[in-house]
Amino acid sequence: MVSDKFILAVLVSGRGSNLQAIIDSIEIRSLPVKIGLVISDVKNSFALERARKHNIDELFLDPKTFPDRKNYEQALVEQIQAKSVNLVCLAGFMRILGKHFINTFSDRIINIHPSLLPAFPGLNVQKRALEHGARFSGCTVHYVNEEVDGGPIILQSVVPIYDNDSEALLSERILEQEHIIYPEAIRLIAENRLTLSGRRVLHNK
Ligand code: GAR
Repeated sequence: MVSDKFILAVLVSGRGSNLQAIIDSIEIRSLPVKIGLVISDVKNSFALERARKHNIDELFLDPKTFPDRKNYEQALVEQIQAKSVNLVCLAGFMRILGKHFINTFSDRIINIHPSLLPAFPGLNVQKRALEHGARFSGCTVHYVNEEVDGGPIILQSVVPIYDNDSEALLSERILEQEHIIYPEAIRLIAENRLTLSGRRVLHNK
């Protein structure tokens, strides 16, 4: 068990269905953590509305109002530190984070990605998996390091790719699994059940 003093910051850019999955898991009490803050780099993203609806502090931090990436990331860092956050969760946050941010929260940033990493890092990955002819795809929760989509893998879930699949159907099938494994990965971290051993994440009993 952990207390609800384990605090998350969730960084978003869009519709926020993964944020919603985390909120729902907290509200049914299967995830004993608290969301201290949701930050979006996109104005009016639906994720912010979801946060407001659940009385979670939220903030739009506009990258265009900062001179460069370092300054923007410093503002993110300050907002997150002000909430005494234990874990930063990227949930559809479509911005690459630099050294400064990553080093500040070393081994305390995780991301959800809609492919079976290390296959298909980057963007448009459902379409690329389909076009490549992969028979399976899925999703990955991983720690964030300086290599884009390259950090140690925490959890994965596999889905089949069918002959008559479309990008939309595959994305939907993957998203359903994202909503299961992301809250589960957060729970494993909050309960201190993971050990990093080089590139490997060992799951303690
Ligand atoms: C999700 O599919 C997530 O895996 C992906 O963006 C979507 C966000 O959906 N993230 C990435 O591609 C990051 N490289 P959501 O806003 O509904 O959670």
